[in-house]
Amino acid sequence: MYCVRKVTDDIYWVGGNDRRLMCFEGVYDVPRGVSYNSYLLLDEKTVLFDTVDKAVAEVFFENVEHVLAGRTLDYVVVHHMEPDHSATLCELVRRYPDVKIVCNSKMVTMIKQYFTFDIDSHAVVVDEGGTFSSGKHSFTFINAPMVHWPEVMFTYDAAAKILFSADAFGMFGALDGALFADEVDFERDHLDEARRYYTNIVGKYGLQVINALKKAAAFDIQMVCPLHGYVWRKNIGWFIDKYMKWASYEPEEKGVVIAYSSVYGHTANAADTLACLLGEQGVKTVVYDVSVTAESYIISDIFKYSHVVFAATTYNMGVFIKMENLLHDLVEHGIQNRSTALIENGTWAPQSGRLMKELLSSCKGFRFLNEKFTLKSSMKEEQMGDLKALADTIAQTVKNE
Ligand code: FEO
Repeated sequence: MYCVRKVTDDIYWVGGNDRRLMCFEGVYDVPRGVSYNSYLLLDEKTVLFDTVDKAVAEVFFENVEHVLAGRTLDYVVVHHMEPDHSATLCELVRRYPDVKIVCNSKMVTMIKQYFTFDIDSHAVVVDEGGTFSSGKHSFTFINAPMVHWPEVMFTYDAAAKILFSADAFGMFGALDGALFADEVDFERDHLDEARRYYTNIVGKYGLQVINALKKAAAFDIQMVCPLHGYVWRKNIGWFIDKYMKWASYEPEEKGVVIAYSSVYGHTANAADTLACLLGEQGVKTVVYDVSVTAESYIISDIFKYSHVVFAATTYNMGVFIKMENLLHDLVEHGIQNRSTALIENGTWAPQSGRLMKELLSSCKGFRFLNEKFTLKSSMKEEQMGDLKALADTIAQTVKNE
């Protein structure tokens, strides 16, 4: 059965929700599911904005057919060729053989790579600043390379003052009936999943995100329609401000993430002791065991907070693998501008402090607050003074930065 919502008088959400997906992109767990958004405009011409992942193909095609109500589909605008949005494009062409595909030249190449249908006979190739009209609505296309792939573009609809923003302003989480961000308590219930989505999916491309947002800022935007998650029609500036912070690698809040790996609990004990010392000084602190919590959540919080402490045991003369993976992932996501401290552990030859610092050496703007705090197997009473001194340094910089 169809499952649609009205966005405006003549634009409908015709996407779908997947709550069975184990891992988005094969990497990120999505315990609250994910939505694949698609929007259908009924103007003098009918225009679909993007297709959906194949997991929700059945309801998507029912939705499109229901909203079209016997009309044909004239155009589909493709904003992003990643298959979570384009996997059903070929089937769309099979069902609506006269449809024109509005896309840029990079997309034509990708469509040929993914599919075998004759894209050249369907394509209406547009480029940066190109325009197109469906009747009452006219559209301007804005290239947004690397938000999150090189072919990505946004569309601005001048009649509805809508920015179709591709992955930008998306989030993890299915749409549970609500379509607009102002229909839910977004900050309380969804901001964390929006941050986890942004930082892990697009976090590497902060500069490109800022460039795309600057270009979009030239338009009078009253609504943002992303490819995942809620549509924004109120308080858009608040969410754009979050994006600008994430994209410029500025922390949202003062506070400390302590991420530890601990084989037998002794490094965990030092991490908890440090957290207590920080807590006594009123410093907001969150502690993660990297063997238990998926990297995407920890990376998201490292983007959120100003400080991060890494505490890891030495393993096979290297950094314990779960911590090594986290640090590699963090470096790959381009994190910058954090104050950090290191705690290492080793029973006979502690190495993890030096190796963690090496792994983080390519992060721009990382300020190391200590060389390393070394545990030999376990924390001892005589080390408490040094740990307190480290906590004092962290607390002072949290308060002063
Ligand atoms: Fe939602 Fe980059 O695809």
